[in-house]
Amino acid sequence: MKILMVTSEANPYAKTGGLADVVYALAKELTIHGEEASIVMPYYQSIVKRVNGNVKLIGSFDVFMSWRKQTADLYRTYVDGITYYFIGNAYYFNRENIYGYYDDIERFAFFTLAARNMLKFLKLKPRIIHIHDWQAGMLPALIKEQNGDDPFYDNIRFVTTIHNPAFQGLFDPFLLSDFYGLSDELFRSGKVRFKGAVSSLKTSIMYSDKITTVSPTHAGELLTEEGGHGLNHVLQYVLDDFKGILNGIDYEEWNPQTDGKIFSKYGYSDYKVGKRENKVKLLQSFNMSKTDGPVFGLVSRLTWQKGVELITNAAPHIIARGGSIIVLGSGEYGAEQDFNNLIQRFPGKVGVYIGYNDELAHRIYAASDFFLMPSLFEPCGISQMISLRYGTLPLVRITGGLRDTVFPFTGSNLDTANGYGFYDYTTAALIDTVSWAIDNYHKADIHGQLIYNAFKSENDWAKSAQAYLDLYESIE
Ligand code: GLC
Repeated sequence: MKILMVTSEANPYAKTGGLADVVYALAKELTIHGEEASIVMPYYQSIVKRVNGNVKLIGSFDVFMSWRKQTADLYRTYVDGITYYFIGNAYYFNRENIYGYYDDIERFAFFTLAARNMLKFLKLKPRIIHIHDWQAGMLPALIKEQNGDDPFYDNIRFVTTIHNPAFQGLFDPFLLSDFYGLSDELFRSGKVRFKGAVSSLKTSIMYSDKITTVSPTHAGELLTEEGGHGLNHVLQYVLDDFKGILNGIDYEEWNPQTDGKIFSKYGYSDYKVGKRENKVKLLQSFNMSKTDGPVFGLVSRLTWQKGVELITNAAPHIIARGGSIIVLGSGEYGAEQDFNNLIQRFPGKVGVYIGYNDELAHRIYAASDFFLMPSLFEPCGISQMISLRYGTLPLVRITGGLRDTVFPFTGSNLDTANGYGFYDYTTAALIDTVSWAIDNYHKADIHGQLIYNAFKSENDWAKSAQAYLDLYESIE
């Protein structure tokens, strides 16, 4: 089966969050299952620099955004059996970042139109076009509304995956015709209307054959008023075609036994030595004090979604109990400042790296005793699964995919628990849970058993990829 993923991020080329991991790992796993998976994404400046000429320009074609004519340069390369197509246009994509510009809606409209035009240009007829998040959400509508009479597109089916329901791709209804050449009638009828605007995420949901999100618990949450981000009404409408499929992680990339990025490799049998060596070196690299206390790691986008304010609030308590904190990530300015301030307040006890650094991420997972993830909402979450694989106990708020992958210690479930959890989104609840985790850290039998259970957790992609494949095949 030919599957084309349409996305704004994918490893190894462009990443701000878990979306990039998931698109790549799913495509890779599908090729292992013998399917033909390709990915189309914008040719960002960072990709141009990275590939350094090592991709092939296979042609250029026009993209009309009503009266404006733009050119798309199409590049191709292959990684791990996956075909990558890059849509190049210097005006839209030769910029420092992936997102965050005043004209993001226009940039991704161009990308979406170009992805549609690419199909004919390449004579590529995927069976499945799999849309991830809002950026190319208008694609199914474009093809169905504008190319519905052309037999070339007859056998294409659409799947939309919601990774982050808070990003809805809202734009002025005027742009429906101005960018996409679509009729106002779609807005007036309500089909694409959302919160008084057009939402490309809603449009994608309305025009797709199947809709998924990235964990069963989050699927349930999205159907509720409190957890639906307004999408609950839309999803109720397509209920029979909507389900949650849990993400996995790439077990080759994330394997402490073979990981060349960490200071010393280890498995379950030698994790005590391995983690200690990783801890000593990582603390050194941050000029932090040596410690026998627990290290709390955080690798995350530093945004409100991730509960970072709870962590900065709880930090003095963690340190008072003998803990140290190491943070890697970037995001909201205030959150970055709050973490930086902790370094001054608690010298030797806090390490912060603002930005993204893959090697350092691996080292933090390996060196930490606990991984903090008090998310306000979390469709799936990748870091908790990586932590489990590295014998690092996740300490999470019990929500979304965290609930499906972390089984919090309750005092009486030592045979199955693999981490810690709390429900209330409050600093007090986090502090209470951290306290208990630190108590147990000093009880070798309990802590050791939880680590054993963490190592035994299974979150590889094989199962999830099969679930997607079954879903693709179920579409008539
Ligand atoms: C988004 C979600 C996260 C999920 C990831 C990959 O970043 O916030 O929970 O793991 O997408 O699906």
